[in-house]
Amino acid sequence: MPDAADLPQDPATSADEAPRYRREPVSFTRRGGRLTEKQQAAWDQLAEAYVLDVPRAGPSTSVDPDWRIDPASTFGRDAPLVVEIGSGRGENVVAAAERHPDWNFLALEVWAPGVAQTLVQARATGVTNVRLAVANATETLATALEPGSVHELWTWFPDPWHKKRHHKRRLVTVPFTELVARVLEPEGTWRLATDWADYGEQMAEVVAESPHVEGGPVERFEGRVLTKFEQKGLAKGRVIHDLAARPTR
Ligand SMILES: C[S@@+](CC[C@H](N)C(=O)[O-])C[C@H]1O[C@@H](n2cnc3c(N)ncnc32)[C@H](O)[C@@H]1O
Repeated sequence: MPDAADLPQDPATSADEAPRYRREPVSFTRRGGRLTEKQQAAWDQLAEAYVLDVPRAGPSTSVDPDWRIDPASTFGRDAPLVVEIGSGRGENVVAAAERHPDWNFLALEVWAPGVAQTLVQARATGVTNVRLAVANATETLATALEPGSVHELWTWFPDPWHKKRHHKRRLVTVPFTELVARVLEPEGTWRLATDWADYGEQMAEVVAESPHVEGGPVERFEGRVLTKFEQKGLAKGRVIHDLAARPTR
């Protein structure tokens, strides 16, 4: 089992120290990382069963390109797989796992305290159909997940990188849609949301321009619970933009 102390208390992927092997800027940055006592207790109790042991290719959030996730052995059963990218504190993935006990949920998050907080909630609710990986989602989608293995992919409120010079760090780009289309089932769905107007526009443009996916703006996805993050956006008067897409036929 991964030891919490070895995990990215601080993913060490700031702009200044981007590892040399990564050609693209990453969509996340340094994060403070001490676990609370409660998080550490949940980690000690649940990490072995819930947190995947990810072989690394370099930094602590990287993914060895030879690593493959086998959902049947990871979850101990075959079931539709939902993958959440940037699951934060895990409010959505745990609530959805409770609502859909017949589906498997995999949360990808680079922020270890968020993963630990997700374990706190998993323990409180008793869900057993959630697994987590402290891993860069881009790398996980590129190689670790089998092609066509994901029923739904969720990208809720990816970091907005609102300064223009940081836009290159945004997760949702046309090249990223190739990875999305790679892992989705042919009839699978990619769901996105942002509270940042110009990222919402970018998402709509990316989906419209991409040869890999088709879709566009939709009504708020009713399967999403209101996270602290979404609440904050609403409290500041921001409009939430929801989109949905699927692989191009
Ligand atoms: C703004 S927060 C939103 C969290 C959550 N989805 C919500 O709605 O409350 C974005 C999250 O994405 C994570 N993240 C950013 N880039 C990522 C990547 N490449 N792989 C995995 N997680 C990532 C960050 O660590 C952060 O927790």
